[in-house]
Amino acid sequence: MRKSIVAANWKMNGNSQLVADFAQTQLQSNVAEIIYGLPAILISQAKSLGLKNIAGEDVSANKNGAFTGEISAVMLKEQGAEFCIIGHSERRQYHGENEKLLAEKWARLNEENIAVIYCIGETEAEYDAGITKSVLERQLNPMLAAGLIDENTVIAYEPVWAIGTGKAATAEYAEKTHQEIREIISRQSADVASKIRILYGGSVKANNAEELANMENIDGFLVGGASLKINEFKQIIEAFK
Ligand code: 13P
Repeated sequence: MRKSIVAANWKMNGNSQLVADFAQTQLQSNVAEIIYGLPAILISQAKSLGLKNIAGEDVSANKNGAFTGEISAVMLKEQGAEFCIIGHSERRQYHGENEKLLAEKWARLNEENIAVIYCIGETEAEYDAGITKSVLERQLNPMLAAGLIDENTVIAYEPVWAIGTGKAATAEYAEKTHQEIREIISRQSADVASKIRILYGGSVKANNAEELANMENIDGFLVGGASLKINEFKQIIEAFK
């Protein structure tokens, strides 16, 4: 039985007041793990106010040194992060991140025992061309070959065309794609494929969460915009009963 995860990704949004509001509310779930992906500068405050399961949104591929503006896995760990998102499409798109770089980031996180939330997903053009599965193979295969994916990895499938557009994937499409992701992983290990959590992300809202959550292979969500609103995020969490 895979335990569901509902993860927030605040991106470059939020502030100390919002952290304080979430900390005061202390959202709970008996069935889902709640993870807060926060701007790195807010992690320490979140931790000190008692929020649990904090994730960084990115990490440097380097251990330390002259890399102005970057944040290392060691620093994330010291501030209290237990998870880190890598490979978000915004990092791939605006910062040219590729699988080679992401494998290095992944290795840095492993050194600090920070669990990886690895984002994958096709662009609109790739979706239109019907090549989603080969895109997912391109994003997953190097990580499988490097032995980076295990049952503690969290995969977030986020079709780029659904992110921030209000146009979520249908539950059927997301379910089919999650099955394909499990199939790709099962080529290396059927056991890992059956245990790994695969989250859906892309315009998850209170009004579509339940239908998506009911799908067998959707083990949770990575939520952007709606994770900034306590009430809506609460309703999304409650989609997992
Ligand atoms: P939205 O929920 O705002 O579409 O963002 C999804 C996302 O990118 C989460 O990582």
